[in-house]
Amino acid sequence: MTAAFRVVPFSPEYDSSTFESLDQHLTAYLKEGRAARDLSTGQAAIFLMVDGADRVQGYYTLSSASVPRKEAFSGTQARKFPYPQVAVTLLGRVAIHKDLRGQGIGTDLILHALRQAARAAETVASYAVILDAKNEKVAILYTRLGFVPFKDQPLKLFLPMETIRQLP
Ligand SMILES: CC(C)(COP(=O)(O)OP(=O)(O)OC[C@H]1O[C@@H](n2cnc3c(N)ncnc32)[C@H](O)[C@@H]1OP(=O)(O)O)[C@@H](O)C(=O)NCCC(=O)NCCS
Repeated sequence: MTAAFRVVPFSPEYDSSTFESLDQHLTAYLKEGRAARDLSTGQAAIFLMVDGADRVQGYYTLSSASVPRKEAFSGTQARKFPYPQVAVTLLGRVAIHKDLRGQGIGTDLILHALRQAARAAETVASYAVILDAKNEKVAILYTRLGFVPFKDQPLKLFLPMETIRQLP
């Protein structure tokens, strides 16, 4: 994370009024109370990237999830899991302010999310971080970090915790 920003747990004390993602759904999620609702109902942990003036410039969400072993993985890989469902961590939403795009800040925020997920997996086990990429361009960003697609689902990607723990 660059020195200009820090990542903090969601709190209404941070100013999200000027936050504007390129994706209006991701803007609305934060500004129209759905993030606060998901936090209060235990559906997502939400982390904000804020600047020196405590203005929100980005965010991500993490949730517990599971994927069916046979749908997600091919033969040999699927067989290593003992149960029909594989415990994973869902990186549900990631967004940065639209004016900050294309400078590597999104990648830094995603790396922060991966490390956070790996730390959480030390106390609540999880095989991998998974996510649904919105489109192929976004998928490329994740494949550069090592994410690989699930069987027959090119935009559904996963990265094992084992790999995340080895990230520099
Ligand atoms: C996705 C997002 C977090 C990436 O942040 P970023 O700081 O722009 O990303 P970085 O600068 O670290 O990396 C840039 C890469 O992102 C990828 N990318 C993601 N969205 C893209 C888009 N709409 N157009 C072009 N490239 C895009 C490309 O691979 C690009 O690489 P390139 O510059 O070599 O072409 C940010 O663009 C964003 O908030 N987008 C809107 C919300 C969104 O799409 N969230 C993801 C939902 S799965």
